[in-house]
Amino acid sequence: MAEEICFFAKDSIIIKPPKKSPALLRMVVVMFTLIFGIYICSICLKQTSMEKTSKYLNIEVIERPCHNHDMDRSQIPYVHYPKPKTFSRAECGCNPVRLFAILSMQRSGSGWFESLLNSHMNVSSNGEIFSVKDRRQNASSILRTLDTVYNLDFFTSASKNHCSAAVGFKWMLNQGLMEHHKEIVEYFNKKGVSVIFLFRKNLLRRMISVLSNSYDRYAKVLSGTHKSHVHSHEEADTLAKYKPEINTTLLITDLKRTEVTVTEALEYFNSTRRMILYYEDIVRNRAKLVDVLEFLRLPVMDLSSRQVKIHNGPLREHIKNWDDVNKILNGTAYERFLRADY
Ligand SMILES: *[C@@H]1O[C@H](CO)[C@@H](O)[C@H](O)[C@H]1NC(C)=O
Ligand SMILES: *[C@@H]1O[C@H](CO)[C@@H](O)[C@H](O)[C@H]1NC(C)=O
Ligand SMILES: *[C@@H]1O[C@H](CO)[C@@H](O)[C@H](O)[C@H]1NC(C)=O
Ligand SMILES: *[C@@H]1O[C@H](CO)[C@@H](O)[C@H](O)[C@H]1NC(C)=O
Ligand SMILES: *[C@@H]1O[C@H](CO)[C@@H](O)[C@H](O)[C@H]1NC(C)=O
Repeated sequence: MAEEICFFAKDSIIIKPPKKSPALLRMVVVMFTLIFGIYICSICLKQTSMEKTSKYLNIEVIERPCHNHDMDRSQIPYVHYPKPKTFSRAECGCNPVRLFAILSMQRSGSGWFESLLNSHMNVSSNGEIFSVKDRRQNASSILRTLDTVYNLDFFTSASKNHCSAAVGFKWMLNQGLMEHHKEIVEYFNKKGVSVIFLFRKNLLRRMISVLSNSYDRYAKVLSGTHKSHVHSHEEADTLAKYKPEINTTLLITDLKRTEVTVTEALEYFNSTRRMILYYEDIVRNRAKLVDVLEFLRLPVMDLSSRQVKIHNGPLREHIKNWDDVNKILNGTAYERFLRADY
Protein backbone atom coordinates (compact mmCIF):
# COMPACT_ATOMS: atom_id res chain seq x y z
CA MET A 1 0.00 0.00 0.00
CA ALA A 2 2.81 2.29 0.87
CA GLU A 3 4.37 1.52 -2.48
CA GLU A 4 1.27 2.61 -4.29
CA ILE A 5 1.38 5.92 -2.50
CA CYS A 6 5.05 6.18 -3.35
CA PHE A 7 4.10 5.83 -6.91
CA PHE A 8 1.78 8.84 -6.72
CA ALA A 9 4.23 10.92 -4.81
CA LYS A 10 7.43 9.73 -6.32
CA ASP A 11 8.81 13.17 -7.00
CA SER A 12 8.51 14.47 -3.49
CA ILE A 13 9.53 11.59 -1.21
CA ILE A 14 11.46 8.47 -1.61
CA ILE A 15 10.05 5.82 0.59
CA LYS A 16 12.10 2.88 1.47
CA PRO A 17 10.59 -0.58 1.80
CA PRO A 18 8.48 -0.60 4.95
CA LYS A 19 10.43 -0.92 8.14
CA LYS A 20 7.39 -0.47 10.33
CA SER A 21 8.77 2.50 12.20
CA PRO A 22 5.80 4.47 13.73
CA ALA A 23 7.20 7.77 12.48
CA LEU A 24 7.31 6.53 8.94
CA LEU A 25 3.83 5.04 9.26
CA ARG A 26 2.47 8.35 10.52
CA MET A 27 4.08 10.10 7.62
CA VAL A 28 2.56 7.59 5.19
CA VAL A 29 -0.88 8.26 6.65
CA VAL A 30 -0.39 12.02 6.41
CA MET A 31 0.79 11.72 2.84
CA PHE A 32 -2.14 9.49 1.98
CA THR A 33 -4.59 11.91 3.48
CA LEU A 34 -2.95 14.80 1.66
CA ILE A 35 -2.90 13.16 -1.72
CA PHE A 36 -6.38 11.75 -1.34
CA GLY A 37 -7.57 15.19 -0.31
CA ILE A 38 -6.02 16.80 -3.34
CA TYR A 39 -7.50 14.11 -5.53
CA ILE A 40 -11.02 14.61 -4.13
CA CYS A 41 -10.60 18.35 -4.42
CA SER A 42 -9.54 18.15 -8.03
CA ILE A 43 -12.58 16.01 -8.85
CA CYS A 44 -14.80 18.49 -7.06
CA LEU A 45 -13.29 21.40 -8.96
CA LYS A 46 -13.69 19.61 -12.25
CA GLN A 47 -17.36 19.00 -11.52
CA THR A 48 -18.04 22.55 -10.49
CA SER A 49 -16.40 23.86 -13.59
CA MET A 50 -18.50 21.46 -15.66
CA GLU A 51 -21.63 22.66 -13.90
CA LYS A 52 -20.62 26.19 -14.62
CA THR A 53 -20.20 25.52 -18.31
CA SER A 54 -23.51 23.71 -18.50
CA LYS A 55 -25.21 26.58 -16.71
CA TYR A 56 -23.56 28.91 -19.15
CA LEU A 57 -24.82 26.74 -22.01
CA ASN A 58 -28.35 26.92 -20.63
CA ILE A 59 -28.19 30.68 -20.57
CA GLU A 60 -26.98 30.55 -24.14
CA VAL A 61 -30.03 28.54 -25.13
CA ILE A 62 -32.40 31.03 -23.55
CA GLU A 63 -30.76 34.14 -24.93
CA ARG A 64 -29.88 32.83 -28.34
CA PRO A 65 -31.75 34.71 -31.08
CA CYS A 66 -34.93 32.87 -32.07
CA HIS A 67 -34.74 30.68 -35.12
CA ASN A 68 -37.32 28.68 -36.85
CA HIS A 69 -35.48 25.82 -38.45
CA ASP A 70 -38.51 24.75 -40.48
CA MET A 71 -38.59 28.10 -42.15
CA ASP A 72 -38.05 28.40 -45.85
CA ARG A 73 -34.67 30.14 -46.23
CA SER A 74 -36.12 32.62 -48.71
CA GLN A 75 -38.31 33.96 -45.87
CA ILE A 76 -35.45 34.88 -43.55
CA PRO A 77 -35.16 38.50 -44.76
CA TYR A 78 -38.84 39.04 -43.96
CA VAL A 79 -39.11 37.79 -40.39
CA HIS A 80 -38.22 39.67 -37.25
CA TYR A 81 -38.07 38.94 -33.55
CA PRO A 82 -38.61 42.41 -32.12
CA LYS A 83 -37.69 43.20 -28.55
CA PRO A 84 -40.05 46.04 -27.63
CA LYS A 85 -38.75 48.60 -25.16
CA THR A 86 -42.13 48.98 -23.52
CA PHE A 87 -43.23 45.42 -22.75
CA SER A 88 -42.15 41.77 -22.96
CA ARG A 89 -43.38 39.55 -25.77
CA ALA A 90 -43.51 36.76 -23.18
CA GLU A 91 -44.64 33.43 -24.56
CA CYS A 92 -44.72 34.81 -28.10
CA GLY A 93 -41.11 36.07 -27.90
CA CYS A 94 -39.95 33.56 -30.49
CA ASN A 95 -42.94 33.89 -32.82
CA PRO A 96 -41.73 35.52 -36.01
CA VAL A 97 -43.19 38.92 -36.86
CA ARG A 98 -43.65 40.23 -40.39
CA LEU A 99 -43.71 43.89 -41.26
CA PHE A 100 -46.14 45.42 -43.71
CA ALA A 101 -47.48 48.73 -44.96
CA ILE A 102 -50.77 49.31 -46.76
CA LEU A 103 -50.16 51.98 -49.39
CA SER A 104 -53.36 53.56 -50.54
CA MET A 105 -55.29 56.73 -51.28
CA GLN A 106 -58.12 58.34 -49.36
CA ARG A 107 -61.57 56.82 -49.97
CA SER A 108 -60.28 53.59 -51.50
CA GLY A 109 -61.63 51.20 -48.91
CA SER A 110 -58.45 51.11 -46.84
CA GLY A 111 -60.31 51.79 -43.57
CA TRP A 112 -62.60 48.85 -44.24
CA PHE A 113 -59.72 46.68 -45.42
CA GLU A 114 -57.72 47.52 -42.33
CA SER A 115 -60.62 46.71 -40.00
CA LEU A 116 -60.87 43.31 -41.72
CA LEU A 117 -57.16 42.68 -41.20
CA ASN A 118 -57.34 43.74 -37.58
CA SER A 119 -60.04 41.16 -36.91
CA HIS A 120 -57.23 38.61 -37.23
CA MET A 121 -55.89 37.77 -33.77
CA ASN A 122 -52.27 38.13 -34.89
CA VAL A 123 -52.43 41.33 -36.94
CA SER A 124 -51.74 44.82 -35.64
CA SER A 125 -52.45 47.42 -38.29
CA ASN A 126 -52.09 50.74 -36.56
CA GLY A 127 -54.12 53.04 -38.78
CA GLU A 128 -53.11 56.16 -40.64
CA ILE A 129 -50.16 57.05 -38.46
CA PHE A 130 -48.72 59.58 -40.92
CA SER A 131 -51.80 61.75 -40.83
CA VAL A 132 -49.87 63.44 -38.01
CA LYS A 133 -47.70 66.04 -39.77
CA ASP A 134 -44.79 65.92 -37.30
CA ARG A 135 -44.14 62.29 -38.13
CA ARG A 136 -43.73 63.01 -41.84
CA GLN A 137 -41.85 66.30 -41.52
CA ASN A 138 -38.72 64.84 -43.12
CA ALA A 139 -37.18 61.49 -44.00
CA SER A 140 -35.58 61.07 -40.59
CA SER A 141 -38.82 61.62 -38.68
CA ILE A 142 -40.50 59.13 -41.03
CA LEU A 143 -37.85 56.47 -40.46
CA ARG A 144 -37.92 57.03 -36.72
CA THR A 145 -41.68 56.51 -36.69
CA LEU A 146 -41.30 53.34 -38.76
CA ASP A 147 -38.73 51.98 -36.30
CA THR A 148 -41.14 52.52 -33.42
CA VAL A 149 -44.04 50.83 -35.20
CA TYR A 150 -42.03 47.85 -36.37
CA ASN A 151 -40.47 47.35 -32.96
CA LEU A 152 -44.04 47.01 -31.60
CA ASP A 153 -43.57 50.13 -29.48
CA PHE A 154 -46.38 52.09 -31.13
CA PHE A 155 -49.70 51.78 -29.35
CA THR A 156 -53.12 52.11 -30.89
CA SER A 157 -56.39 50.34 -30.29
CA ALA A 158 -55.25 47.86 -32.97
CA SER A 159 -52.01 46.78 -31.26
CA LYS A 160 -52.09 43.12 -30.31
CA ASN A 161 -48.73 43.52 -28.62
CA HIS A 162 -46.94 40.36 -27.66
CA CYS A 163 -48.64 37.88 -30.00
CA SER A 164 -48.58 40.00 -33.16
CA ALA A 165 -47.36 37.98 -36.13
CA ALA A 166 -47.71 40.89 -38.56
CA VAL A 167 -47.42 44.56 -37.74
CA GLY A 168 -48.08 47.52 -40.00
CA PHE A 169 -50.25 50.54 -40.72
CA LYS A 170 -51.84 52.33 -43.64
CA TRP A 171 -50.16 55.08 -45.50
CA MET A 172 -51.76 57.46 -47.97
CA LEU A 173 -49.71 58.40 -51.01
CA ASN A 174 -50.03 62.10 -50.14
CA GLN A 175 -48.58 61.66 -46.64
CA GLY A 176 -44.87 62.05 -47.39
CA LEU A 177 -44.69 58.72 -49.15
CA MET A 178 -44.08 60.07 -52.65
CA GLU A 179 -41.72 62.91 -51.59
CA HIS A 180 -39.47 60.61 -49.57
CA HIS A 181 -39.88 57.46 -51.63
CA LYS A 182 -36.14 56.85 -52.05
CA GLU A 183 -35.42 56.63 -48.32
CA ILE A 184 -38.60 54.70 -47.68
CA VAL A 185 -37.93 52.08 -50.38
CA GLU A 186 -34.41 51.66 -49.05
CA TYR A 187 -35.77 51.17 -45.53
CA PHE A 188 -38.46 48.74 -46.71
CA ASN A 189 -35.92 46.64 -48.58
CA LYS A 190 -33.43 46.66 -45.74
CA LYS A 191 -36.06 45.62 -43.20
CA GLY A 192 -38.01 43.31 -45.49
CA VAL A 193 -41.25 45.27 -45.23
CA SER A 194 -44.02 43.80 -47.41
CA VAL A 195 -46.10 46.33 -49.31
CA ILE A 196 -49.83 45.93 -49.89
CA PHE A 197 -51.08 48.38 -52.50
CA LEU A 198 -54.77 49.00 -52.18
CA PHE A 199 -56.36 51.03 -54.95
CA ARG A 200 -59.81 51.69 -56.24
CA LYS A 201 -60.43 50.98 -59.90
CA ASN A 202 -63.40 53.30 -60.19
CA LEU A 203 -61.80 56.69 -59.69
CA LEU A 204 -65.10 58.48 -60.32
CA ARG A 205 -66.75 56.70 -57.42
CA ARG A 206 -63.70 57.50 -55.35
CA MET A 207 -64.08 61.16 -56.28
CA ILE A 208 -67.69 61.15 -55.10
CA SER A 209 -66.63 59.63 -51.83
CA VAL A 210 -63.91 62.25 -51.41
CA LEU A 211 -66.34 65.11 -52.13
CA SER A 212 -69.01 63.71 -49.80
CA ASN A 213 -66.52 63.09 -47.04
CA SER A 214 -65.11 66.60 -47.23
CA TYR A 215 -68.65 68.00 -47.31
CA ASP A 216 -69.50 66.08 -44.15
CA ARG A 217 -66.40 67.38 -42.44
CA TYR A 218 -68.29 70.69 -42.26
CA ALA A 219 -71.92 69.56 -42.42
CA LYS A 220 -71.58 66.76 -39.83
CA VAL A 221 -74.93 65.28 -40.79
CA LEU A 222 -74.82 62.40 -38.30
CA SER A 223 -75.99 64.07 -35.07
CA GLY A 224 -73.33 66.71 -35.38
CA THR A 225 -70.40 64.29 -35.72
CA HIS A 226 -68.27 63.90 -38.81
CA LYS A 227 -67.91 60.26 -39.77
CA SER A 228 -65.69 58.88 -42.51
CA HIS A 229 -66.82 55.30 -41.90
CA VAL A 230 -70.13 54.03 -40.57
CA HIS A 231 -71.37 50.89 -38.86
CA SER A 232 -75.07 50.90 -39.78
CA HIS A 233 -77.17 51.07 -42.95
CA GLU A 234 -79.19 53.98 -41.56
CA GLU A 235 -76.05 56.05 -41.12
CA ALA A 236 -74.83 55.01 -44.57
CA ASP A 237 -78.15 56.07 -46.15
CA THR A 238 -78.09 59.40 -44.33
CA LEU A 239 -74.56 60.15 -45.57
CA ALA A 240 -75.44 59.02 -49.11
CA LYS A 241 -78.30 61.53 -49.32
CA TYR A 242 -75.82 64.25 -50.07
CA LYS A 243 -75.18 64.40 -53.83
CA PRO A 244 -72.01 66.27 -54.76
CA GLU A 245 -71.79 68.38 -57.86
CA ILE A 246 -68.70 67.56 -59.88
CA ASN A 247 -66.79 70.34 -61.61
CA THR A 248 -66.75 69.00 -65.16
CA THR A 249 -64.07 71.45 -66.29
CA LEU A 250 -61.49 69.69 -64.17
CA LEU A 251 -62.96 66.21 -64.15
CA ILE A 252 -60.80 64.54 -66.78
CA THR A 253 -57.65 66.30 -65.59
CA ASP A 254 -58.32 65.16 -62.03
CA LEU A 255 -58.93 61.55 -63.03
CA LYS A 256 -55.78 61.56 -65.15
CA ARG A 257 -53.73 63.02 -62.32
CA THR A 258 -54.90 60.32 -59.94
CA GLU A 259 -54.00 57.64 -62.46
CA VAL A 260 -50.54 59.09 -62.92
CA THR A 261 -49.98 59.17 -59.16
CA VAL A 262 -50.90 55.48 -58.89
CA THR A 263 -48.56 54.57 -61.75
CA GLU A 264 -45.73 56.51 -60.15
CA ALA A 265 -46.25 54.87 -56.78
CA LEU A 266 -46.16 51.43 -58.36
CA GLU A 267 -42.96 52.35 -60.14
CA TYR A 268 -41.22 53.85 -57.11
CA PHE A 269 -41.93 50.77 -55.02
CA ASN A 270 -41.29 48.23 -57.75
CA SER A 271 -38.25 46.76 -55.99
CA THR A 272 -40.11 45.92 -52.79
CA ARG A 273 -41.92 42.69 -51.92
CA ARG A 274 -45.46 43.69 -52.82
CA MET A 275 -48.97 42.79 -53.86
CA ILE A 276 -51.61 44.92 -55.55
CA LEU A 277 -55.21 44.80 -54.46
CA TYR A 278 -58.27 46.53 -55.78
CA TYR A 279 -61.11 47.49 -53.52
CA GLU A 280 -63.68 46.34 -56.08
CA ASP A 281 -62.15 42.86 -56.22
CA ILE A 282 -62.42 42.41 -52.46
CA VAL A 283 -66.02 43.65 -52.42
CA ARG A 284 -66.87 41.18 -55.16
CA ASN A 285 -64.91 38.29 -53.71
CA ARG A 286 -63.92 38.12 -50.06
CA ALA A 287 -61.65 35.16 -50.85
CA LYS A 288 -59.15 37.80 -52.00
CA LEU A 289 -58.41 38.29 -48.32
CA VAL A 290 -56.96 34.80 -48.15
CA ASP A 291 -54.33 35.95 -50.67
CA VAL A 292 -53.43 38.74 -48.27
CA LEU A 293 -53.06 36.38 -45.30
CA GLU A 294 -50.93 34.07 -47.42
CA PHE A 295 -48.84 36.99 -48.63
CA LEU A 296 -48.15 37.86 -44.99
CA ARG A 297 -47.74 34.14 -44.16
CA LEU A 298 -50.37 34.34 -41.44
CA PRO A 299 -52.61 31.50 -40.31
CA VAL A 300 -55.71 31.72 -42.50
CA MET A 301 -58.91 32.58 -40.63
CA ASP A 302 -62.20 34.34 -41.29
CA LEU A 303 -62.01 38.11 -41.19
CA SER A 304 -64.88 40.42 -40.44
CA SER A 305 -65.65 44.11 -40.24
CA ARG A 306 -68.57 46.10 -38.86
CA GLN A 307 -68.14 48.81 -41.46
CA VAL A 308 -70.97 49.40 -43.91
CA LYS A 309 -70.55 50.68 -47.47
CA ILE A 310 -71.90 54.21 -47.91
CA HIS A 311 -72.66 54.65 -51.62
CA ASN A 312 -74.60 51.80 -53.20
CA GLY A 313 -76.46 51.46 -56.48
CA PRO A 314 -75.98 53.27 -59.78
CA LEU A 315 -73.79 56.36 -59.88
CA ARG A 316 -76.48 58.53 -61.45
CA GLU A 317 -78.20 58.53 -58.04
CA HIS A 318 -75.15 59.95 -56.32
CA ILE A 319 -74.15 62.83 -58.58
CA LYS A 320 -76.12 66.06 -58.69
CA ASN A 321 -75.06 67.01 -62.22
CA TRP A 322 -75.16 63.50 -63.60
CA ASP A 323 -76.10 64.56 -67.15
CA ASP A 324 -73.06 66.84 -67.48
CA VAL A 325 -70.73 64.22 -66.08
CA ASN A 326 -72.19 61.58 -68.35
CA LYS A 327 -71.70 63.80 -71.38
CA ILE A 328 -68.11 64.68 -70.51
CA LEU A 329 -67.01 61.11 -69.90
CA ASN A 330 -68.98 59.37 -72.61
CA GLY A 331 -66.60 58.19 -75.31
CA THR A 332 -63.47 58.68 -73.18
CA ALA A 333 -61.19 56.14 -71.51
CA TYR A 334 -63.11 56.82 -68.31
CA GLU A 335 -66.54 55.94 -69.64
CA ARG A 336 -66.39 52.59 -67.82
CA PHE A 337 -66.48 54.43 -64.49
CA LEU A 338 -70.03 55.62 -65.25
CA ARG A 339 -71.51 52.15 -65.51
CA ALA A 340 -69.49 50.01 -63.09
CA ASP A 341 -71.27 48.70 -59.99
CA TYR A 342 -68.76 49.64 -57.35
C1 LIG B 1 -37.09 66.60 -38.95
O1 LIG B 1 -38.30 66.96 -38.35
C2 LIG B 1 -38.28 66.98 -36.93
C3 LIG B 1 -39.67 67.34 -36.46
O2 LIG B 1 -40.54 66.26 -36.67
C4 LIG B 1 -37.26 68.00 -36.45
O3 LIG B 1 -37.20 67.97 -35.05
C5 LIG B 1 -35.90 67.67 -37.03
O4 LIG B 1 -34.99 68.66 -36.70
C6 LIG B 1 -35.98 67.54 -38.55
N1 LIG B 1 -34.72 67.06 -39.06
C7 LIG B 1 -34.14 67.54 -40.15
C8 LIG B 1 -32.88 66.87 -40.56
O5 LIG B 1 -34.65 68.44 -40.81
C1 LIG C 1 -51.52 34.28 -32.55
O1 LIG C 1 -52.01 34.70 -31.30
C2 LIG C 1 -52.24 33.64 -30.40
C3 LIG C 1 -52.92 34.17 -29.14
O2 LIG C 1 -52.67 35.52 -28.92
C4 LIG C 1 -50.95 32.93 -30.10
O3 LIG C 1 -51.19 31.87 -29.22
C5 LIG C 1 -50.37 32.40 -31.38
O4 LIG C 1 -49.11 31.82 -31.15
C6 LIG C 1 -50.20 33.54 -32.39
N1 LIG C 1 -49.81 32.99 -33.68
C7 LIG C 1 -48.74 33.41 -34.35
C8 LIG C 1 -48.51 32.78 -35.69
O5 LIG C 1 -48.00 34.25 -33.89
C1 LIG D 1 -64.56 74.58 -61.97
O1 LIG D 1 -63.16 74.79 -61.81
C2 LIG D 1 -62.67 75.87 -62.59
C3 LIG D 1 -61.15 75.90 -62.45
O2 LIG D 1 -60.76 75.87 -61.10
C4 LIG D 1 -63.31 77.16 -62.14
O3 LIG D 1 -62.85 78.24 -62.92
C5 LIG D 1 -64.82 77.03 -62.26
O4 LIG D 1 -65.45 78.18 -61.72
C6 LIG D 1 -65.34 75.81 -61.53
N1 LIG D 1 -66.75 75.61 -61.84
C7 LIG D 1 -67.66 75.46 -60.88
C8 LIG D 1 -69.06 75.26 -61.37
O5 LIG D 1 -67.40 75.50 -59.69
C1 LIG E 1 -38.71 49.98 -61.56
O1 LIG E 1 -39.01 51.24 -62.09
C2 LIG E 1 -37.88 51.94 -62.62
C3 LIG E 1 -38.34 53.29 -63.07
O2 LIG E 1 -38.74 54.07 -62.00
C4 LIG E 1 -37.31 51.14 -63.79
O3 LIG E 1 -36.16 51.79 -64.26
C5 LIG E 1 -36.95 49.74 -63.28
O4 LIG E 1 -36.52 48.95 -64.36
C6 LIG E 1 -38.12 49.09 -62.63
N1 LIG E 1 -37.70 47.85 -62.01
C7 LIG E 1 -38.42 46.75 -62.07
C8 LIG E 1 -37.86 45.57 -61.35
O5 LIG E 1 -39.48 46.67 -62.67
C1 LIG F 1 -72.60 58.27 -75.59
O1 LIG F 1 -72.44 59.06 -76.76
C2 LIG F 1 -73.00 58.49 -77.92
C3 LIG F 1 -72.75 59.34 -79.13
O2 LIG F 1 -71.77 60.30 -78.90
C4 LIG F 1 -74.50 58.26 -77.73
O3 LIG F 1 -75.02 57.61 -78.86
C5 LIG F 1 -74.71 57.39 -76.48
O4 LIG F 1 -76.10 57.27 -76.24
C6 LIG F 1 -74.05 58.01 -75.29
N1 LIG F 1 -74.18 57.09 -74.17
C7 LIG F 1 -74.80 57.41 -73.03
C8 LIG F 1 -74.90 56.32 -72.03
O5 LIG F 1 -75.19 58.51 -72.79
